[in-house]
Amino acid sequence: MNCSQAKKFLDSCGQSHVLAFWKELGPAERKALLAQISRLDARDIATCRKALAAGAASVPDTSKGVAPRVAVLKGAKLKEAVAAGEKEIAAGRVAALLVAGGQGSRLGYNGPKGCYSIGPVTGAPLFFFHARKILARSIRYGARIPFYVMTSEANRAATEECFRDNGYFGLDPEDVFFFTQGMWPGMDRNGSLLLESKGKIFMSPDGHGGLLAALKRSGALADMKKRGIKSVFFFQVDNPLVEVADPAFIGYHVMNRSEYSLKLCAKRDPYEKVGMPMRFGEKYRMVEYTEMTKDQCERKSANGELYFLYGSPAIHVFDRAFLEREAAREMPVHLAFKKIAHIDAKGRAVKPSEPNGYKFEKFIFDILPNAKRVAFLAFDQKDEFSPVKNAEGNDSPATCRADMQARWRRILAGGGVTVEESVALEIDPAMILDSRDVVERGLLV
Ligand code: UTP
Repeated sequence: MNCSQAKKFLDSCGQSHVLAFWKELGPAERKALLAQISRLDARDIATCRKALAAGAASVPDTSKGVAPRVAVLKGAKLKEAVAAGEKEIAAGRVAALLVAGGQGSRLGYNGPKGCYSIGPVTGAPLFFFHARKILARSIRYGARIPFYVMTSEANRAATEECFRDNGYFGLDPEDVFFFTQGMWPGMDRNGSLLLESKGKIFMSPDGHGGLLAALKRSGALADMKKRGIKSVFFFQVDNPLVEVADPAFIGYHVMNRSEYSLKLCAKRDPYEKVGMPMRFGEKYRMVEYTEMTKDQCERKSANGELYFLYGSPAIHVFDRAFLEREAAREMPVHLAFKKIAHIDAKGRAVKPSEPNGYKFEKFIFDILPNAKRVAFLAFDQKDEFSPVKNAEGNDSPATCRADMQARWRRILAGGGVTVEESVALEIDPAMILDSRDVVERGLLV
């Protein structure tokens, strides 16, 4: 793309100001700006402007929402689901799908969050625990479990480097597929693109819902199809307790012929900041905590439990064909009003102290209402969910490491091994995935 082509394109989308400082740019900056403009999609700009015109959408009426029926598997039912999931994994029909494109701004870590050192003893990164669980299940069931890792443009290279430097954590590189989510431009209140510098448009990742477009664009969906994948286990990078490719969950999904299954856990308090799936007529929708009324948060069932008890920590199983169908559709766009440093029309650097512009994002759970069949499965938060979100306090590295160790102690105890609280403990999931390994690998003395 040359300058006049760029100008024509920008004029056609009402964004000609992007070239306002062209004359001041050196050759390298000009080249980079033209490359950036050539990657812009007129439809994306139109979509963002439309979302902006619609406004930060009035809070939807959630008063008719009904709590979903959530299965708690025990005894024979649990065994049946595990057997169905094991069969699915052994047949090579299961893939793991990780979204790791976030910016991790709350944690304040300068790099991909997956590279963050979380192992309480070895300092192993978050990616280690995810990959080693995939390896463990792959060995146990004698099947390949391809691992699809979504990154952002900004963290793709560092993510791949982390895998390479660590020998792919023991996985076959042929089974690890990196792909990059899209970037969307930020806009001011009037729908004009913002310049990060005189030669660069401000862009930000298009949210974890950017997953669908990225899966399609990158060929990951086609790769899944070629490999005969049927069930796709979706998870987030910041939770090292997640039971990646959990047979019980996959089995429950398959037995229900579900298109979109969600693992849910009981809220710790009525106002916990988690999404809440609700049924509206025949369809389900994820209601964000900000959309819930005080009455809804506090409502009790006859048994004294919270009526809206189960929240979603974003652990899902998708039917691959459902993802394919959804990737061909437009997703809703959400607005986030943020402080965006930029260059103003006069070329001055502006560092706002108040929100001044919009970032645009898509959320993966927006495809929930489109699923023809949905299943909900309860799990115990202490065993499977302890995310690293904040630098300190709740959901921080400190709470996560403590939860990891407590979980490992329970796994060992399940195999008859007691480890004192004072002992610093870390377990490689590829060595001991669960209590069964403790017994089978002869740790029981
Ligand atoms: P969060 O919403 O917790 O965002 O992401 P974050 O970027 O990790 O952290 P903050 O909010 O900036 O502090 C939940 C999951 O979705 C992924 C993240 O990597 C994480 O696994 N994600 C988020 C993406 O893959 N892309 C995005 O654009 C946003």
